[in-house]
Amino acid sequence: MLDPSDFIKESIEGIKKQIGDEKAIIALSGGVDSSVASVLVSEAIGDNLLAVFVDHGLLREGEAEYVKETFEPRLNFDCIDASEEFLKELEGVEDPEEKRKIIGEVFIRVFEREAEKEGAKFLVQGTIAPDWIESEGKIKSHHNVALPHGLVLELVEPIRELYKDEVRVVGSEMGLPDEIVNRQPFPGPGLAVRVVGKLTPEKIEICRKANAIVEEEVKKEGLDESLWQYFAVLTDTKVTGVKGDIRDFGYLVVLRMVESWDAMTANVPELPWGMIRTISARITAEVSEVTHVALSVSDKPPSTIEFA
Ligand code: XMP
Repeated sequence: MLDPSDFIKESIEGIKKQIGDEKAIIALSGGVDSSVASVLVSEAIGDNLLAVFVDHGLLREGEAEYVKETFEPRLNFDCIDASEEFLKELEGVEDPEEKRKIIGEVFIRVFEREAEKEGAKFLVQGTIAPDWIESEGKIKSHHNVALPHGLVLELVEPIRELYKDEVRVVGSEMGLPDEIVNRQPFPGPGLAVRVVGKLTPEKIEICRKANAIVEEEVKKEGLDESLWQYFAVLTDTKVTGVKGDIRDFGYLVVLRMVESWDAMTANVPELPWGMIRTISARITAEVSEVTHVALSVSDKPPSTIEFA
């Protein structure tokens, strides 16, 4: 059983020893892992850590503002709005893996620029145990990462021995708000994996609004702690509907709500019917481009959690 205050003390000591008086940088997404890694390293080296939040234009509603409000008072924090750069590269791309690849490449390009400007020597990452145990086996914790334009940074992974539940305990102990500590995972490529087909600003906005409604209603129902993820997917399918007396031809949105332990498998639990109907009614009323809402009932496997 992890003692969070012992862990924090030892971890801060270790980070001070590793980084010394050099500068470090972290890509802070606002997810629990990178948030905990950021505050740990910041406790150890203060403003020599720069936490960079990259807005790729595929974030949830209010996300950039929330992360800024939460971390700006506490960390040496910088928010980079790179949405135009991302969306330009993603124009016309349909294949989900291609979207992920482009987002990853642009992200590293933007991040490397910041690291160079900052003169960083260390790269902090919020890697946790499940991220490496199955894929890599145990690798040395002191190793270097070469970024595409040649910048070489030494890796600092302060929470690499922890599991998600332990990361949450450490985050609470360090005074991070519950909203950060207990929030549902949000994929790095953001809404790009929740918009099926080509990305356009219009489709991203529809998906963003539908996701905000799902989050609001799930929280109202008190299911946000028992569900692993809950979100809306904008499909590429258009279906006929009728709004008022007028026939309409709009998008099909699919609701996805799953329970899971580690995202390797997931199941769709029985969900309160009233909540599902409210979400459907709100999405079709508040998001004019949507005519139809469906509920996904497939577990993982055989389905994946995300649609794209
Ligand atoms: P799937 O859809 O593969 O997702 O069942 C498993 C978990 O991973 C998240 N996910 C991603 N996270 N980059 C990420 O950082 C990605 O490209 C990505 N794709 C899926 C997903 O939200 C779920 O928690």
